[in-house]
Amino acid sequence: MEFDNNERIVSPDFNSADSETEISLRPKTLNDYIGQEKAKENLKIYIEAAKNRGENLDHVLLYGPPGLGKTTLAGIIANEMGVQIRVTSGPAIEKPGDLAALLTNLNDGDVLFIDEIHRLSRAVEEVLYPAMEDNALDIIIGKGPSARSIRLDLPRFTLVGATTRAGQLSAPLRDRFGVILRLELYTTEQLSQIVQRSAGILEISMDKKGADEIASRSRGTPRIANRLLKRARDFAEVMDNGVVTEENAKIALSRMEIDKLGLDNIDRLLLTTMIRNYNGGPVGLETIAATIGEESVTIEDVYEPYLLQLGFIAKTPRGRVVTPLGYKHMNIDMPGQQTLEV
Ligand code: ADE
Repeated sequence: MEFDNNERIVSPDFNSADSETEISLRPKTLNDYIGQEKAKENLKIYIEAAKNRGENLDHVLLYGPPGLGKTTLAGIIANEMGVQIRVTSGPAIEKPGDLAALLTNLNDGDVLFIDEIHRLSRAVEEVLYPAMEDNALDIIIGKGPSARSIRLDLPRFTLVGATTRAGQLSAPLRDRFGVILRLELYTTEQLSQIVQRSAGILEISMDKKGADEIASRSRGTPRIANRLLKRARDFAEVMDNGVVTEENAKIALSRMEIDKLGLDNIDRLLLTTMIRNYNGGPVGLETIAATIGEESVTIEDVYEPYLLQLGFIAKTPRGRVVTPLGYKHMNIDMPGQQTLEV
């Protein structure tokens, strides 16, 4: 069975339908940014300190599951520092020359945001090191014995890198970031505040319980919450009086086959496969991936973080296991754990 993960309504990955709304919904200041308190509080201090000294902010690495607002935070950093942001991604920078062009076109103090920074090639990374450390670009002129290296000065800049896992980054690159911030899945309460804010901006009528219902099924991810909000509005407008409520949100979400904790068919397939085919584990990631026809990195980055947060699966040295909570959610008795009727 093959799934296109980007077609899932609960995929945390950015898709083209997200673009118009996501951009209008992005908060522009740290005060408007809901959640990620630890990252936010520290960032506030670093920004204020850098501004007071008249310096640019140290390079920042943001890591965590997709859809949590890494691009948004990069935009906020630029805005709070009063500089411009240039946005690019690891795979888009194919050659060292592409990066050199980006760097030489920056203005003093600008933020360069590189999404999926773990996907930079070695050759491009090599150009980044002197740029990050000494604001310098080393270029080689000529070939063979007459080749010479010359050093060009670059404007001061702040690199903001984003990755789903800091462990995927090469050690020399990771070591060059002065600030490393981990973003975490949001709580239902924070997501509820986010969808209420979004509904206000998009002029969607919704009551608090409608927001809570959407929030509790958004797998800790604002991008999913905002996407579900738009779909719930469709149902509320066509099937009801246009106000998103707990009742019509429940109907909308069950029509989209998203259960009350935000699991969709693929999550449920993952859990039932582990239970039925592998006795609930331990089973290796590669084995699960092969059985459900999904790439192992997708399972690790997209499905697992939320299932781990819910405590439905656990990682052990011998592989993944389904926990008693996971069995309970799937309504399957756990071997040896049936409650004894006395
Ligand atoms: N929209 C998406 N993420 C958000 C956040 N963390 N705060 C406010 N609005 C958001």
